[in-house]
Amino acid sequence: MTDQAPTAYAGPERVLSGVQPTGDLHLGNYLGALVKFARLQHEIDTFIFVADLHAITAWQEPSKLKHQVREIAAAYLATGLDPKVATIFAQSAVPEHAELAWVFNCVARLGWLDRMTQFKDKAGKHKERESVGLYTYPVLQAADILAYKATKVPVGEDQRQHLELTRDIAQKFNNDFNAPGFFPLPDALTQGPGARIMSLRDGTAKMSKSDPSDNSRINLTDDADAIAQKVRKARTDPEPLPETMEGLADRAEARNLVGIYAALAGVTEARVLAEFAGQGFGAFKPKLADLAVSVMGPIGGEMRRLLADPAEIDRILTDGAQRARALAAPTVAEVKKLVGFWAG
Ligand code: TRP
Repeated sequence: MTDQAPTAYAGPERVLSGVQPTGDLHLGNYLGALVKFARLQHEIDTFIFVADLHAITAWQEPSKLKHQVREIAAAYLATGLDPKVATIFAQSAVPEHAELAWVFNCVARLGWLDRMTQFKDKAGKHKERESVGLYTYPVLQAADILAYKATKVPVGEDQRQHLELTRDIAQKFNNDFNAPGFFPLPDALTQGPGARIMSLRDGTAKMSKSDPSDNSRINLTDDADAIAQKVRKARTDPEPLPETMEGLADRAEARNLVGIYAALAGVTEARVLAEFAGQGFGAFKPKLADLAVSVMGPIGGEMRRLLADPAEIDRILTDGAQRARALAAPTVAEVKKLVGFWAG
């Protein structure tokens, strides 16, 4: 016996990720996700989509949804995704996602979904009033990933459990249908600078689009004045910056701003402290504001330009959906055969 399973997945590496079109993207999404997408596209075959099927697990105004999808697509393009390099598309334009999700609904066990903490957090005390779609959301996510046999999934820390579920579904499918190595067991990519950007008003809470205070986050669409003002108003403490990261251990807000500076400048936090040690926030904040405006300002400008005439975005999404389908359709056709469907 060797450890090397003869049945391991042997296909190519592939990156896939998606963002829901529900609310404004912010600095946390930019540093935690979008920057990574733009970098990965040059290393591995990359598929990035807008998760509009997931969005309707909570009510979305039909007259606004299409615009919300275009906004996310605009953010992808403005932050450096290149439609000639990566495949960019809307989830609802590729019916294979929903088709595969149904099969996976019959592979995943109730016990597995009952453990999902994100459902419990979102549903709160009134789970009987939530859509069934919200409950089975992670199964659709597994279908998103496995329809393309993706092996690497850049996501936030909060998605780790959904990736574990995806692996469980892939493994059970391969076993149940006697198809060793058919689906890969994908890995979450959660590391990197900007993995945890916190609220500008509370250094212990994640920067979030659902925070009622707009001053808690820098939105991708904020103009230079708004960005500078939010940095100026960010919560801090009266102490000067220390020499080392240990000196920030109990200073959540200070640590967050140093982390944001480092991520925006593409340097280590130690480098930032080496430059600013001994200075207070009166000196540090204007520097951070300038940096944030210089990086984020042009992104907002490009998003506004793209959204002013969505024809270009629509053309890119149409082309992306065609390329996505060309890859997903043969996989789903094979799944139907393996399951034994009449139409398989
Ligand atoms: N659930 C993810 C989030 O909220 C979005 C998402 C849907 C996703 N399907 C995906 C991410 C597939 C990665 C892969 O962030």
